[in-house]
Amino acid sequence: MNTSALHAQLPHTLRQTNLSALGQHYQGKVRDTYRQGDRLVLVTSDRLSAFDHVLTTIPFKGEVLNRLATFWFERTKHIVPNHVLDVPDANVTVARACEPFAVEVVVRGYLTGSLWRDYQKGTHTAYGVPFGDGMRKDEAFPSPIITPSTKAQYGQHDEPISEKEILAKNLASARDWARITEAARGLFLEGQKWARTRGLILVDTKYEFGKVGDELYVIDEIHTPDSSRYWVADEYEAHFAKGEDQRMLDKENIRQWLIRERGFQGQGTPPAIPDDVRVELAEKYLAAYERITGTPLALNVGDVHARIEKNLKARGYL
Ligand SMILES: Nc1ncnc2c1ncn2[C@@H]1O[C@H](COP(=O)(O)OP(=O)(O)O)[C@@H](O)[C@H]1O
Ligand SMILES: [Mg+2]
Repeated sequence: MNTSALHAQLPHTLRQTNLSALGQHYQGKVRDTYRQGDRLVLVTSDRLSAFDHVLTTIPFKGEVLNRLATFWFERTKHIVPNHVLDVPDANVTVARACEPFAVEVVVRGYLTGSLWRDYQKGTHTAYGVPFGDGMRKDEAFPSPIITPSTKAQYGQHDEPISEKEILAKNLASARDWARITEAARGLFLEGQKWARTRGLILVDTKYEFGKVGDELYVIDEIHTPDSSRYWVADEYEAHFAKGEDQRMLDKENIRQWLIRERGFQGQGTPPAIPDDVRVELAEKYLAAYERITGTPLALNVGDVHARIEKNLKARGYL
């Protein structure tokens, strides 16, 4: 890939937005949301978060995430209604404001990542999901499993929670939880099916759901490299047989760099990220976009905030 556009974009990345005329502002780790009555304007910034800390910005990351979420919402809207109302800019989604469930619905096709670490320690039982004994790292489950977690505050880690606790704490009613898990499975299977046609494995992912009245919606983002793990399909068997790590297209790349190069796993002050690493990560996000959608992203170097303002004004949101 020609990285000159990525270097050129470094001074223009979107770190934060100042669009208070849009409504009440809430800054998440990655997205800035503005509330306008029953609508939310979600601006996906270029912020990179890992281990629950914001570390730096990555050129074109917000655009890649918002475009991918849009792509996936469009492809899955026959399975479950989603929150999207309009996409007035590459980084912006106007969404139906929903009453969110305070549960992250994690769906996993393979025993890997934090769940593999839990499995080795014997703490994987916290999700209340039955597991076979003697499974290997990166082994596929007979069918996808759901390992829910709580939605933690900034700087804290999400905690595993079982279906029993979700119902006991009334985080969702039994009827809603049944609808949520059915929707999550349906979305995940559709995601896996499409990923396969693109030579990828959708390994696991996280969904958030919300309601308006009695209507259930999938909200936030879906099947992006920030919320999902993707592996390269035709290399899976060989790596699995040798017990090697899989080739991945997701955020695990930066987690491993932080651990390997800086000894950082979330404790203490996060390290500075050199520009070359930011550019390399931008390449990964762009490669993921191209792999998943089959289309390369046209890179428009320039001020993202100014473009967003212009597009929002043109569409009457500002
Ligand atoms: N349609 C929606 N209705 C209500 N809340 C939403 C909707 N879509 C996304 N959200 C919330 O907006 C926030 C998006 O910002 P994000 O950077 O992902 O935050 P976080 O740091 O909590 O992950 C999240 O808290 C998410 O739950
Ligand atoms: Mg989030």
